[in-house]
Amino acid sequence: MQLKNDLLLRVIKGEKVERTPVWLMRQAGRILPEYRAVRNSVSGFIELAKTPELAAEVTIQPVDLLGVDAAIIFSDILVVPEAMGLPYQMIEKKGPWFPETIKNASDLKKLRVADPKTDLHYVLEAIRMAKKGLNGRVPLIGFAGAPWTIFAYMVEGSGSKTFSKARAMLYQNPVLAHQLLEMITQTTIRYVKAQVEAGANLIQLFDSWAGILPAYHYREFSIRYMEKICEAVTEVPVTIFAKGAYFAINEILELSCDTIGLDWNMNIEEIRKQADGRKTFQGNLDPAVLYAPDDVLVRQTQHMLTQFKGSRHIANLGHGVYPDTNPEKVRLFIQTVKAFE
Ligand code: CP3
Repeated sequence: MQLKNDLLLRVIKGEKVERTPVWLMRQAGRILPEYRAVRNSVSGFIELAKTPELAAEVTIQPVDLLGVDAAIIFSDILVVPEAMGLPYQMIEKKGPWFPETIKNASDLKKLRVADPKTDLHYVLEAIRMAKKGLNGRVPLIGFAGAPWTIFAYMVEGSGSKTFSKARAMLYQNPVLAHQLLEMITQTTIRYVKAQVEAGANLIQLFDSWAGILPAYHYREFSIRYMEKICEAVTEVPVTIFAKGAYFAINEILELSCDTIGLDWNMNIEEIRKQADGRKTFQGNLDPAVLYAPDDVLVRQTQHMLTQFKGSRHIANLGHGVYPDTNPEKVRLFIQTVKAFE
């Protein structure tokens, strides 16, 4: 189907566009009261994510209510470990928790490379329904966690400030770490390809825990596996968002992906020089700017847009929108991007 608003895809192709496209990471399911109403009608996040009609509905909400230039499918990166045989729970106010974790070779034997058509059928169904509901209004973004970030949760068992269990394994049992990363990578390749087949117009990989590794481990345990995914996914554009990975920006610029997501600590001028026109950029407003008075919010957004002027740019925050952000501030951010000349 021909998209009515394909700004995002045209920027990535390097075509001339009327204005900078804009969407927000975590726009579905964090800030809208309309989302909370749907969320409260079910037992919790997992039931919502596994009910395709509702997942599709909250995917479309930010397009209707905020006017963003893309939708992102409502799901989570942790559906991948579950599909491989490691289920998770979402604990209210605490986040994800895995009753079982991967500690040794015998734990690994319990896992499988997932078949998305069966194990992740509910996500694919949600994508098909969201596509139907969007009716070509904007592109739909599919996503997955980058292998290193998924590995971190599977070994650690929950969020953590240090991810010391996951990082310990890289030193104590690198062979096992590589085996697990390879299984995650193969699952992820199948999964994102199935998302594209179901209707996703582009794919984003979230490497949320990139920033906790030293450069030598990042190269060995993350970049390598992201590159396998980038090489395998040739059907649609791929975005890599590696939070806190400024130490590896040169390697990230070498990945066979189209777009690089940047957090707000990145030095735009430096990266533009290093990239030399090779990539589209996405980002990178500090999400805390959305707590600022309106005039500051507008000024900071315009400053960010000015820094990217003349490059291929998709406006976004430097990480997911914070849960207690006022939707009116999000609207002002979007409006400011749309009005920028
Ligand atoms: O962008 C979107 O709005 C689409 C949906 C989406 C969710 N999670 C829904 C969600 C996306 C893209 C994600 C990605 C995700 N999940 C990441 C990478 C992005 C990032 O923020 O760094 C990570 C690390 C996770 C893992 C995860 N899921 C955590 C740590 C938590 C708890 C804290 C939080 O972010 O809310 C979740 C839960 C989660 N994922 C919720 C939603 C709507 C909230 C669950 C609830 O309603 O209780």
